[in-house]
Amino acid sequence: MLLIFEKSFMHTSEILEKINRLRKELSIHNYQYYVMAAPSISDFEFDKMLEELIQLEKAHPEFYSPDSPTQKVGGAINKNFENFTHQYPMLSLGNTYSEDELRDFDQRIIKQLGHSDYEYVCELKFDGLSISLHYENGLLIRAVTRGDGSKGDVVTDNVKTIKALHTCLQGNYPASFEVRGEIFMHRQAFDRLNKQREEEGEPLYANPRNVASGTLKLQDSADVAKRPLDIYLYQLIEKTETIKTHADSLTAMKAWGLKTSEHTKTCSNIEAVFNFINYWDRERKNLSYDIDGVVLKINDYHQREELGFTAKSPRWAIAFKFKTEAACTQLLSIDYQVGRTGSITPVANLQPVLLLGTTVKRASLHNANEIERLDIRVGDYVFVEKGGEIIPKITGINLDKRNQDTPPLQYITHCPVCQTELVRNEGEANHYCPNEVSCAPQVVGRIQHFIHRKAMDINGLGDETIQLLYENNLVHNIADLFDLKYEDVVKLDRMADKSAQNLIVGIKEAVKIPYQRVLFGLGIRYVGETVAKKLAAHFKTIEQLQEANFEALVAVDEIGERIAASIIDYLQNPYHTEQIARLKAAGLQFENMEKEKVMESALLAGKAVVISGVFSQYSRDEIKHMVEINGGKNASGITGKTDYVVAGENMGPAKLEKAVQLNVPILSEKEFLELIGKPTTQSLF
Ligand code: IVH
Repeated sequence: MLLIFEKSFMHTSEILEKINRLRKELSIHNYQYYVMAAPSISDFEFDKMLEELIQLEKAHPEFYSPDSPTQKVGGAINKNFENFTHQYPMLSLGNTYSEDELRDFDQRIIKQLGHSDYEYVCELKFDGLSISLHYENGLLIRAVTRGDGSKGDVVTDNVKTIKALHTCLQGNYPASFEVRGEIFMHRQAFDRLNKQREEEGEPLYANPRNVASGTLKLQDSADVAKRPLDIYLYQLIEKTETIKTHADSLTAMKAWGLKTSEHTKTCSNIEAVFNFINYWDRERKNLSYDIDGVVLKINDYHQREELGFTAKSPRWAIAFKFKTEAACTQLLSIDYQVGRTGSITPVANLQPVLLLGTTVKRASLHNANEIERLDIRVGDYVFVEKGGEIIPKITGINLDKRNQDTPPLQYITHCPVCQTELVRNEGEANHYCPNEVSCAPQVVGRIQHFIHRKAMDINGLGDETIQLLYENNLVHNIADLFDLKYEDVVKLDRMADKSAQNLIVGIKEAVKIPYQRVLFGLGIRYVGETVAKKLAAHFKTIEQLQEANFEALVAVDEIGERIAASIIDYLQNPYHTEQIARLKAAGLQFENMEKEKVMESALLAGKAVVISGVFSQYSRDEIKHMVEINGGKNASGITGKTDYVVAGENMGPAKLEKAVQLNVPILSEKEFLELIGKPTTQSLF
């Protein structure tokens, strides 16, 4: 209350300023939590800020905004989703890394049952996050995360984006039942995501599990759909008359259309279990997803009942975890690398040590938070592990070996290259060097990005030549490339006459590169190849893009607030305006020269079509484009005049109801493609 009282002495403009600041900060924290799975403040601090905003908005309804974090269902960490109490708690499994302990487990089973007439079902231990699915009359009605084991978040819409999941079952399923399993991301999808982040100059995600869990907590299911997740189901909660063993349950689940793993084996003794374990320890590298062990479960339900539970886990199952090979070595020093966007990455220099057949000398420490979390100090003996990831990671410190005089590590405050004071934007984990104009690694990195294969792809010019040109004071920015002369270049070390000629010709050829690739080459933060394409398709000239305000940008498919803010920031910077003007003068393309729509048919002539939801084969923009080139018109709202609704996943329930009410034909993506005679899976762009 005191809080409100104090605020009443604030001027209206100050209140609005405060509200805007809180909204911005909370959005950033939401993003970090849900997208990056890396919160930088505690739940308590978050709740305090949110409460302050709620109170201010209550006292000042005139400042209402539908975009406020308070308006997003719940608005806060784990409040954005409705909670659900599990009917049976979601327990964890006892686990072991040791063969002896697994034999002890087996002996306990024999002792408790009083005989050795039993079977284990061996399964892979998927490295994702567990989920509980509730089906009623064959329809998925609810998906709940594990949460704290007794209560979880309802994430149904997000889970429905998983393509492998049947939201509608087949066969002879029970009227109402619960089934549990694991959601995960394939390594290839993870690598693709990280590649995109690398292109955008962003720090990389740590592993597929983190991304999968962050993805499931995203607010917008359309964003979830863009990050392909997969699922395996491994536990049926419902008991039926006919299902008497776990193996039966897996067969039944499969028959109902639920995805179960094909790598499951029934073993009648512990030696057979060890064979399974050893096989998968060798073979796991050939799977397309990460597993971190094997789970063995007693097959027979009666025997499970006899064995029962401890407070935390069932006595009839155990996880055998694969060893991630670890080594202990000394931290010699820390380097701070500066990326092309100015982001600082601390890297540990280690006393070289052998791990899984390769010598490890360096490991990423990610950011200042990670250093603080580990309380790592130069001279410490650290544990290095290579899990599923390629980059080895430091998982802990051997404190027994720490020299007690070593002081805590002070994170750098200034750029290690250009000495400019570093900045850390509120809510961001990484520090940045703001000197984009003359900080060498940023300048060189940006020019290297500009000539990247997917950007300008200049013949005769590679990363090393850029470095050489920079060191010889011939280029300081991307526009300088177009002032290069043969006479300057040929003087360079290791530059043969022919190479110099090729380089100059290659640069001249750059005028042929289409606008969208020039736009990508500029290196605007968060503007990767795909976003650059979207922008070029929507804003046909750079002038149109320069004039676009925040609202106009976020109205474009796939352009979110974060990207929009970054584009505005970039284009409003006079340094970039001058660079773009020089590139234009050099003849680069800043206009979308793609031919205007080529009509394909008149199959939709005069038809008004409404597109709703998320599609699997094509993006919304592509479907809209297809409507137009087949003579149709895209309409936004459903009315009596709408001829078709093309419905993807997650079409809004209000729209669906209206379409049904007005008797408007609803087409699936496939039906739509068939209607226009295009049952293809090829992308248009
Ligand atoms: S059975 C009573 N089977 O491992 C526990 N769990 O600590 C029922 N997991 O929370 C779980 N693969 O997230 C089971 N084939 C599998 C699994 C599996 C991965 C995860 C699950 C669980 C954790 C156990």
